[in-house]
Amino acid sequence: MSTRKLVCGNWKMNGLKADSVALVRALAERMAAAPPACDVMVCPPFTAIDRVVAAASGSAIAVGGQDCHAAASGAHTGDISAPMLRDLGCAAVILGHSERRTNHGETDAQVRAKAAAARQAGLVAIVAIGETLAQREAGETLRVVAGQLRGSLPEGASAADTVIAYEPVWAIGTGRTPSPADVAQVHEAILADARAIMGETKSAGLRVLYGGSVTPANAQSFLTLASVGGALVGGASLKADQFWSIIQTCP
Ligand code: PGA
Repeated sequence: MSTRKLVCGNWKMNGLKADSVALVRALAERMAAAPPACDVMVCPPFTAIDRVVAAASGSAIAVGGQDCHAAASGAHTGDISAPMLRDLGCAAVILGHSERRTNHGETDAQVRAKAAAARQAGLVAIVAIGETLAQREAGETLRVVAGQLRGSLPEGASAADTVIAYEPVWAIGTGRTPSPADVAQVHEAILADARAIMGETKSAGLRVLYGGSVTPANAQSFLTLASVGGALVGGASLKADQFWSIIQTCP
């Protein structure tokens, strides 16, 4: 587990082979010229992982997947397992992203099983949680994220193999964000909940990333908060200059 913050790019379903390689090369060049203060990861679509791992080799850029199946292998047409991601050179996998929860009906129990599989395969599970706008407006944010956290963390999870990404659903891809004070309040609650679930020792140093419309203009306001262990960046991670600007705001 690192005590540095983590800035992670979630490329979602974007990028053909050549675009992905060009993007990671551009990032690697910038990082070689000016080593950043934080850890950096990119999560390309499955089809580009192999090439991105090769292009990132020799740089400080880690590579992650965007989802995995809960089983290590078997009759699951179209799915990808955690050992397969590990085999490609991934260090981590995003699990329970709200787009997976919405588009594929993923439940906390499924996310927990996937996180257990990731752990088993030696991958860090980046477990995403967050409330909808209706839940926020009803004052249910802390209750919702606490429930998702408890439901999604596998037995034995620790800060060494788990990262939490707090992503309010209403902030993803919308240009809207909570205020830094709101983010700090939720992150502090998540850290307290994680202590209760994992125990003091296993939760020590847990990184809770903020995600949802992070841009070069607002990144510093989140990344300088003590309770924010980094950022999960979607749209702005697809442009090397924007992603690099975000990375550089890391204290
Ligand atoms: P966004 O996406 O930065 O484009 O809002 C973040 C995410 O969904 O991880």
